[in-house]
Amino acid sequence: QRQREMLVPATDGLSTWDEARASAKTCSRCDLCHNATQTVFGEGPLTAPVMFVGEQPGDQEDLAGKPFVGPAGQVFDRVLGEAGLDRGRAYVTNAVKHFKFTLRGKRRIHERPNAGEISACRFWLGLEREFVKPQLVVALGATALHALTGHRGSLASMRERDLVLDDGTALLATVHPSYLLRLPDEEARERETARFRADLERVGRLV
Ligand code: URA
Repeated sequence: QRQREMLVPATDGLSTWDEARASAKTCSRCDLCHNATQTVFGEGPLTAPVMFVGEQPGDQEDLAGKPFVGPAGQVFDRVLGEAGLDRGRAYVTNAVKHFKFTLRGKRRIHERPNAGEISACRFWLGLEREFVKPQLVVALGATALHALTGHRGSLASMRERDLVLDDGTALLATVHPSYLLRLPDEEARERETARFRADLERVGRLV
């Protein structure tokens, strides 16, 4: 019971989806709101059978106010399509709703959210889960897995396993698409992209 309360927090009086989204716009549950352009809330139909959870918005998502529209989003869209999945039928969100970065000259360089930021933002992820009630949640990368389950170890041991969330919802864990972008050689990129595609094909068989 304690674990459930920790991972799926109360809705804090936000009883409609519009109220929740409006309230998220002015969220100051952690300090990331001070430097980011805006809250990037999840996107997709509330009837979606599957919810994908990334890490946090990147530079382009921060400016657009939409999740997964930058380089990682393009990889995600392409491999989703190759796996026969339609992004329009999915709810896509992030563990943390504000962009965290450090400035290098004029460039904003992505920084990983810390445990406190993930914990503060878990309220919104819990709320999205309450409203969407997907059949299947997919954690894209270790930060999402941490936010959803409290698991802080490696992703590798949790991948390709049928996992279950605290409320009984099915969970799959796979890599974050930006991991594929960071791989230095083409052979590794092709191999890992094929594995990611296989994970997404598995998603397609489940929903
Ligand atoms: N990386 C993420 O985890 N989420 C986004 O929305 C974009 C990049």
